[in-house]
Amino acid sequence: MLELRGQRVLLGVSGGIAAYKSADLVRRLREAGAEVRVVLTAGAEHFITATTLQALSGHPVRTSLWDAAAEAAMGHIELARWATQVLVAPATADLLARVAQGRADDLLTTLCLATEAPIAVAPAMNRVMWANPSTQANVATLRARGVRVLGPMAGSQACGETGEGRMREPADLVDDLAASAVPPRLAGRRLLVSAGPTFEDLDPVRFLGNRSSGRMGFAIAEAAAQVGAEVLLVAGPVKLATPVGVRRIDVRSAAEMHAAVIGALPGQDAYVGAAAVADYRPAAVADRKIKKGEGAMLLTLERTADILAEVAAHPARPRCVLGFAAETHDVADYARGKLAAKKVDAIAANLVGRPGSGFDADENALTLYWNGGEREFATARKTDLAHGLVGWIADRLEAG
Ligand code: CTP
Repeated sequence: MLELRGQRVLLGVSGGIAAYKSADLVRRLREAGAEVRVVLTAGAEHFITATTLQALSGHPVRTSLWDAAAEAAMGHIELARWATQVLVAPATADLLARVAQGRADDLLTTLCLATEAPIAVAPAMNRVMWANPSTQANVATLRARGVRVLGPMAGSQACGETGEGRMREPADLVDDLAASAVPPRLAGRRLLVSAGPTFEDLDPVRFLGNRSSGRMGFAIAEAAAQVGAEVLLVAGPVKLATPVGVRRIDVRSAAEMHAAVIGALPGQDAYVGAAAVADYRPAAVADRKIKKGEGAMLLTLERTADILAEVAAHPARPRCVLGFAAETHDVADYARGKLAAKKVDAIAANLVGRPGSGFDADENALTLYWNGGEREFATARKTDLAHGLVGWIADRLEAG
């Protein structure tokens, strides 16, 4: 897990329903080692109390520019200087608009103007408000001025709608801040990642697929980008937002993934094959819907190309090639077998088929096998595991 030791985070909370998550955010920032001071806008006070955040941050919470006692203790300019990072979460449409305009009409916007620390905002609002050209223009202005915009995410919203506008989860925001505070170990390196399942069409309405969610591969792409890599993510059909700073190519079948990966290979420093690529596809794809008949139906399947093995044997082979193995039993034997058979640098293996790990879970446990070593990664969030694996890749590339 990345840390925030030594960082002084000024957390601004503006008035949206996601403000209830600020309590968790403060707790997690402190767990990561940061010192945290919280500023609430007047709107935020309708959603969460200063008392809660004071107890969790261990410091008085500021809510107004005009609080004489608070100004005497630590004036607003002093507070702006104190911060090594400013995070506004949630950032409402109104807050984004005011910061984009350079207004200083309350304490939080004043601090955003007065600080020299990097500013990150985590927008949270109704999906239509987020998509509104006014909001998008404000976000573009902020980005152009170097403000990092973290999220929002797609999903169900407090207003009952579904779409883009949910605040990025507190744990992920902590990772974002921590990553910006760590040395960019992969700066100047290029990393190609495959993620997700592949779907192999049978006819215009049916396909063979698998339950891979793509989360591990997306987490690796994100972790690598956070430490400075130029990342290209080849994604099978998944419902995940593209990580910040990552370029993405969407594919559907194993053949499309193969073409995208091989096409992008020249110049890559590392390849991570996290996709659950189909090993077989229907030998023929019907161009009309297959109608049922009496009795059983026989499908003829043919092998797909093994992308990982091909990458490892390619003349443009990246220096570091890492594959995955999901096994229900004899993990170590199968993983070492794949390491040798596919001639890759490492295999990250995990046990699947247990509840709470593997496909479609937030957490996972992995063992990384390479020639001459192995490393256990105990059960952790996939984002934490991703940083562990990316760290190993950085070690490899640095070792030359
Ligand atoms: N892989 C690939 N192309 C394929 C199949 C798999 O690149 N056509 C990659 C995956 O991205 C993953 C690794 O190979 O990194 C998985 O190894 P594999 O031996 O294919 O795993 P399984 O399909 O689970 O193999 P087995 O059925 O032998 O357990």
